[in-house]
Amino acid sequence: MKKVILARTAGFCFGVERAVNLALSITEKPCCTLGPLIHNARVLNQLDARGVSVCDGVDAVPDGHTVIIRSHGVGRDVYEALERKHARVVDATCPYVRRIHEIVRECAENGELVLIFGDPGHPEVHGTLGWCTEGFVVRDEHELKALFAQNSDWATRQAVFVSQTTARRDQWGRCENILKKLCTNAKILDTICVATNDRQREAAELSDRTDIVIVVGDRGSANTRALADACRNAVIVQSAEELDCGSLSGYQHVGVTAGASTPKETIEEVVKKMTEEMKTPINEVPDERNEQQPGVSSEEQNAGESFAELLEQSLKTLNTGDKVVGIITAITPTEIQVDLGTKQAAYIPFDELTDDRSVKAEDLVKVGDEIEAYVLRVNDVEGIAKLSKLRLDTVKSWEDVDAARDTQAVLEGIVIEENKGGVVVSVRGVRVFVPSSQTGLPKDAPLSSMIRKKVKLRITEFNRPRRRVVGSIRSVLQESRRQEAEQIWTSIEVGKHYDGVVKSMTSYGAFVDIGGVDGMVHVSELSWNRVKQPSDVIKIGQNIDVYVLSFDAEKKKISLGHRKLEDNPWNKFLDVFKKGDVVKVKVVKLMPFGAFAEVMPGVDGLIHISQITDHRIGKPGDAINEGDLVDVMITDIDLERKKISLSARALMEQGRDDAPVADGPDEIVAISSESETVIAADLAEGGSEEAEAPATETPIEEPSAVKVDEESAE
Ligand code: F3S
Repeated sequence: MKKVILARTAGFCFGVERAVNLALSITEKPCCTLGPLIHNARVLNQLDARGVSVCDGVDAVPDGHTVIIRSHGVGRDVYEALERKHARVVDATCPYVRRIHEIVRECAENGELVLIFGDPGHPEVHGTLGWCTEGFVVRDEHELKALFAQNSDWATRQAVFVSQTTARRDQWGRCENILKKLCTNAKILDTICVATNDRQREAAELSDRTDIVIVVGDRGSANTRALADACRNAVIVQSAEELDCGSLSGYQHVGVTAGASTPKETIEEVVKKMTEEMKTPINEVPDERNEQQPGVSSEEQNAGESFAELLEQSLKTLNTGDKVVGIITAITPTEIQVDLGTKQAAYIPFDELTDDRSVKAEDLVKVGDEIEAYVLRVNDVEGIAKLSKLRLDTVKSWEDVDAARDTQAVLEGIVIEENKGGVVVSVRGVRVFVPSSQTGLPKDAPLSSMIRKKVKLRITEFNRPRRRVVGSIRSVLQESRRQEAEQIWTSIEVGKHYDGVVKSMTSYGAFVDIGGVDGMVHVSELSWNRVKQPSDVIKIGQNIDVYVLSFDAEKKKISLGHRKLEDNPWNKFLDVFKKGDVVKVKVVKLMPFGAFAEVMPGVDGLIHISQITDHRIGKPGDAINEGDLVDVMITDIDLERKKISLSARALMEQGRDDAPVADGPDEIVAISSESETVIAADLAEGGSEEAEAPATETPIEEPSAVKVDEESAE
């Protein structure tokens, strides 16, 4: 053996490659294929390892499974049965085959007789028959003649004649010639796949140039057998192990080709074995095809009324860069298949549909939708066209963005990147740079928090030649704040509640955004308890319920409250205590004129210096300290001014220090003033006792019962 020549078209065709890729990319499990995806054990094992099993028929498919329909396609009844089983269908029917289904369906609906040239046992032929009500399959010209002999009225019937995509062209040609004589109204459509045709033609040419052709592929595969049939002298081998190199030693030139379902790895192993064992160089068949119509062989061009010609007559030619409109025929996890009405099968990879990775294709489009796209690439040899909706959107978007700059219209986009100076927003494919200062984020907030967020923005700079577009999110936010503020000012009233967001804090309070307008919550309005600083109870960014205490629409000032009225401790105090009760209190602050003591959380009373003990003292600290727990009697409750007067002296003078004492509002044992054991002393109004109180530099002011943070001031 001097030379090994490898066929250029050997291996997977477009339809098989697409189906295999689709099956390998399926993530939904459980998943099965309806029959073996291809005639190749290697690929089937690979799929099995990924959890894609094989179901022999619809009956074997468990309910709710994901089912992959292989490139051969299936009849309408199978789709219906799968729907009844609630199966999720991933349709890998080869677009060429789907085109044949459409032809026979339409013709059958028009009452035409459907004749199919092919193997009646082949699943593709089964599937095609499933789209017509009256269809007949013939394997050769003899069966065709016999059919017409049995049905004499067919001679004038409207009929359509199609072929299995992998049929032998020479046999088809013979049937075609016979049919033209048998039926005057037959529409003869050569639906042999371009890929099949090219492989068979090349196999025949290879056979002419070599002494023997090794056809790599499964013996059960129709197109593998058809390749072998197309050669003068051929042998089918399923794998490198099966190849007996010794049997080739007598040949000078050996050709190698492979069926459309043979993976590249198997072909490479066969070729490697031959070249290594025989020390023979490998050559590829040069591409000698001359200028033809894309996708149409010379034989097709010479045929009378071929499938390709019909397409050419009625359909436009696809070119890279064309804008096209098609109908979505299937949606898979990785692509959208589109029927453009052309001979090329068209698809849009998911990343050419949208740049929004947070959505699924099904969220954006559905089968049957019309879709406009841009042709990225046309491969007439394989018969596919790759489309992009995103690219078309981008072209349109540039125009829209340009117009939006002039009109200052608001656009929507998704933040896709963060960089040193700001973020990049994709507005339907156009990259718009938004400087940090225009993002609308607070100064120290991380830009990364915006990634993948939808934003509204205005275009502030547009330079198409330099592809520079700058935008501002802040401008839109400001405008919407202005509108919200207007609404607030027209509807604001005292007591109205808002769900606010804490924007900033000072030592005396917090500024809260109530939806376009900021109001001020004084620290004393944050809680009924003693609060030193706002950050003790709230934090920036927190949502809090606030209500309007007062507002000045002219000065644009709003005073807000946050503490709940129903939690007002004064009311709770009044529910529990009354004048004359004895209670244990905690000294919280010493003043020259007395001591403030906490009666219950949020409620303090004053023990005047004259009421701290039953003898004269120079200052409160002489008798008590902050933090001391002291038993006192409530000697007065000033409801109007919310002031409580307490007296320890009253208890001492009664000589009743062992009187039962309450620890707090929850466990309070209220001692009634009418009790025999307690005699209330009315010292509140500063009788003779009060006159003896030591003079203080500060005029004595009666304290409020409800605490106020003395350090805070509005
Ligand atoms: Fe399709 Fe042709 Fe292959 S019909 S599956 S591309 S042989």
